[in-house]
Amino acid sequence: MNAPADFSKGKSHAQTAPAYLSVWNMESYYGESYIVQNISFNVHEGEILALLGRNGAGKTSTLRSIARMDSPQATHGEIWLDHQPLHDMQSYQASAAGIGLVPEDRSIIPGLTVEENLQLAQIAPPIGWSIERLYDLFPRLGERRKQEGVTLSGGEQQMLAIARALARDIKVLLLDEPYEGLAPVIVDEIEKTLRIIKEQGITTIIVEQNAVRALELADRAVILDTGGIVFDGTAQEVLENDALRAEYLAI
Ligand SMILES: Nc1ncnc2c1ncn2[C@@H]1O[C@H](COP(=O)(O)OP(=O)(O)OP(=O)(O)O)[C@@H](O)[C@H]1O
Ligand SMILES: [Mg+2]
Repeated sequence: MNAPADFSKGKSHAQTAPAYLSVWNMESYYGESYIVQNISFNVHEGEILALLGRNGAGKTSTLRSIARMDSPQATHGEIWLDHQPLHDMQSYQASAAGIGLVPEDRSIIPGLTVEENLQLAQIAPPIGWSIERLYDLFPRLGERRKQEGVTLSGGEQQMLAIARALARDIKVLLLDEPYEGLAPVIVDEIEKTLRIIKEQGITTIIVEQNAVRALELADRAVILDTGGIVFDGTAQEVLENDALRAEYLAI
């Protein structure tokens, strides 16, 4: 098992680790509860990283901290994206800096059509993929462009949530359980799309309960357990290590 990167003490992370997205000594709290416990990991440009762990391990909290959705006082440490310090930012600034979070609940806006949901994402710069390009990526969304977003099937809503993230000019896509509640055939379709998105140069962190599916897609994996990192290595190593999967992923 690989230990997390050993960062030299006393220096700013920016001086020591030139990774694309870098989380360094990050801690976060909910009130008195210590949730994310001093974690450090890197994500390289263009790769897909699977962030895994049991229920309550701190996966969603980690994604929310990177996207600056938590309260700033509740998170310590450094988060760097392409030489920009996200840890000093609020969520709208992290979004403008290139973070695209697709939350677990998908957050489709009620009362708006598919197309209006996408247009709303482009109301302010930085604008990413054009709506026509998004319909090429997700033809089902193009067919349903006039349909109210919240009336789409679960799989289509997930596609809309991903499309909405790409409608902004993002560097990193953060996906929180994108396969949840979806039939295997729809998971196949979304997985195919995530591979295309990777080919377009977008870096991705995927959080998934369906760990095997996520590992088959990912280049690397980080496993969290009660808020700390217990594994940082290749996805293949996790697929080949039955004991590790049994201990931390219960599969
Ligand atoms: N708003 C909150 N207030 C208090 N505690 C919270 C809050 N949100 C999460 N927690 C706690 O933080 C811990 C980590 O939660 P988190 O949602 O990050 O885990 P997770 O790995 O995403 O779990 P799951 O697989 O169930 O989605 C849990 O113990 C959870 O109860
Ligand atoms: Mg979660």
